[in-house]
Amino acid sequence: MKTFHTVAELRQALKTLRLQDKRIAFVPTMGNLHDGHLQLIRKAKELGDVVVSSIFVNPMQFSANEDLERYPRTLAEDQRHLEADGCDFLFAPDAREMYPDGKRSQTQIEVTGLSDILCGASRPGHFVGVATVVTKLFNIVQPDVAIFGNKDYQQLKVIENMTRDLSSNVEIIGADIARNEQGLALSSRNGYLTPEELAVAPALYQTLVWAKQELMQGCADHDQLREQAQQKLEAAGFRRDYFEIRAQHNLQTPTEEEKRLVILAAAFLGKARLIDNITLELP
Ligand code: PAJ
Repeated sequence: MKTFHTVAELRQALKTLRLQDKRIAFVPTMGNLHDGHLQLIRKAKELGDVVVSSIFVNPMQFSANEDLERYPRTLAEDQRHLEADGCDFLFAPDAREMYPDGKRSQTQIEVTGLSDILCGASRPGHFVGVATVVTKLFNIVQPDVAIFGNKDYQQLKVIENMTRDLSSNVEIIGADIARNEQGLALSSRNGYLTPEELAVAPALYQTLVWAKQELMQGCADHDQLREQAQQKLEAAGFRRDYFEIRAQHNLQTPTEEEKRLVILAAAFLGKARLIDNITLELP
């Protein structure tokens, strides 16, 4: 695997491959890779001739009070994992390579209607930062296909709608959520948890599974279900962020006819903010 730190070098390397009509599959990440990320790399290997990944802890998607500084950076270990799973090129720029001031770009991409709800309400500016950096990465790599995890369900919707709206030529593929044996969705931020908190953390997924069962059994009182779910999470030791039942296609409050739902949750545990979701189709 070759690692590139500048746009110019990566472009040069990819140019030759593009001339050979190779299909480029791309997996953007912020590093500190776990099996959830590596599963995307393996999927990319199936979907493309050449696999490109990126590791960039994007300052533009963190607000001032968030964990940008302490976000785990483990490049050497990540490189070993990427190589073992068949990644061909890694793009690992520093912040100055991506932004003139190392923090953000003057141009911003906002997918209206999706960027300020759910995680966007809790993290103002987050999805503008995500959409902008992904647009930049797509322009740099020019992939044929890009793979994103369903773990960040709202992010996947933002990227899908953005590529559609901007007539982008990149095909967006979603991949299943990788979980540990207790059901906890793998996340770099799980590293912030103490052993005691790690034992509590699977309650987030368990509560989603419980809420899904309730809905499948005909529960139609979403407000009550949300409140009960929040109380379960608090009883387990979480602090509230949101627990919402939404329509899969636009993440808005579903109409009564809506069958394809997604339950999305975010909650604080110790120093970490964890997110997870589960989809369902009502009979
Ligand atoms: P990061 O959190 O590193 O995640 C990179 C990709 O891995 C995302 O598509 C995310 O959904 C996926 N992923 C993370 N944990 C997963 C899990 N347990 N199962 C399946 N997929 C998982 O998401 C970002 O980085 C950034 O916002 C980025 C898109 C790179 C833009 O900066």
